[in-house]
Amino acid sequence: GKVCLAYSGGLDTSIILAWLLEQGYEVIAFLANIGQEEDFEAAEKKALAIGASKFVCVDVKKEFVEKVLFPAVQVNAVYEDVYLLGTALARPVITKAQIDVAEQEGCFAVSHGCTGKGNDQIRFELGFYALKPDVQVIAPWRDPVFFNRFKGRQDLLEYAALKNIPVTQTKSKPWSTDENLAHISYEAGILEDPDTTPPKDMWKLIKNIEDTPNTPETLTIEFSQGLPTKLINVTTGQIFTDPTEIFLNAGYLGRKHGVGRIDIVENRYINLKSRGCYEQAPLTILRTAHVSLEGLTLDKEVRHLRDQFVTPTYAKLLYNGAYFSPECEYIRSMIKPSQTTVNGQVRLQLFKGNVIILGRSSETENLYDATESSMDELTGFSPEDTTGFIAIQAIRVKKYGLAKKEKKED
Ligand code: ARG
Ligand code: SIN
Repeated sequence: GKVCLAYSGGLDTSIILAWLLEQGYEVIAFLANIGQEEDFEAAEKKALAIGASKFVCVDVKKEFVEKVLFPAVQVNAVYEDVYLLGTALARPVITKAQIDVAEQEGCFAVSHGCTGKGNDQIRFELGFYALKPDVQVIAPWRDPVFFNRFKGRQDLLEYAALKNIPVTQTKSKPWSTDENLAHISYEAGILEDPDTTPPKDMWKLIKNIEDTPNTPETLTIEFSQGLPTKLINVTTGQIFTDPTEIFLNAGYLGRKHGVGRIDIVENRYINLKSRGCYEQAPLTILRTAHVSLEGLTLDKEVRHLRDQFVTPTYAKLLYNGAYFSPECEYIRSMIKPSQTTVNGQVRLQLFKGNVIILGRSSETENLYDATESSMDELTGFSPEDTTGFIAIQAIRVKKYGLAKKEKKED
């Protein structure tokens, strides 16, 4: 039968490809172009040379930006305070494209090179089963026949030699990466010691602060219903309105100014802790601008409900690979209605790793009334109203204080 393998061109998935052929399968090699820096032609040549009967590359950049990244900006998605979910957000798009190829090519099974200790295996496989419930999944790194044979890098290299798989000797980096147009991740290898500072030359996309321009760059980002609709580079005069262009340019400028590097120890779905370093320039800029505009245009209680419930739930569901699930569809449907008033623009500066807000405004929304909010004006409500408001709030607090005093607690 035919198997559709998520193929990256790297050593692991090349070995998996050869191994699947050895098991008697016919293999369709699938590669998603999701904005990673990659030699797609070299990957195709390699897959066909190893013996794939077909190589299919699908460009999913537009879908990634419009269907997944923009809603993530609208909801300010973030996992454990800092991770903007760059890898997790890409998975649903890649999974869907892979299943489409599997269907088109008449594959009974799909395969991937995810390890048995990570989040990605869960994200891919739950997606596969949701989109093609009858599909078979071949996960070599969880198959004893495979992992007992390939116990370390040496075994992989020997098998590569045996199967004439070219090993591009780019002095293998002592960590693993995952890249797309939203971010790049670095994990494993020397990073497994959480107190090891990553070497400066690990960081691939974002400039070291020492190497960033000494003058800031000024941008205006316009939003309509919480979606970025225009990015104006005030410094250069360039204007972008296409969603993918907005995203790519936010990324380009953020990288240039050192914006969006993080280094964390996170909790994986599978209950292991993992140290990861990420470069997430475009989401850092767009999310910061969006949060700022919401301050001006979003109703207080809508915002608080969304912040308590929708944002953390959505982030967790995405992190845990539940994008294609009833609960995630339900939560996703709550994003848009929260954003009807998030219209306007944010002015900001990128400088030495910072996103500096310069101001925000809205022509259409009027929740913020400068006169009403002013410390210098007596309009809107009278000072006595506030005395009453505090008196009511104080009823419970006084009772609580009294009870504590009686029990002599502090
Ligand atoms: N820890 C991050 C996450 O779970 C990044 C995972 C990177 N994946 C990879 N296959 N290298 O989203
Ligand atoms: C992997 O295990 O394949 C990478 C790390 C992860 O998915 O969390």
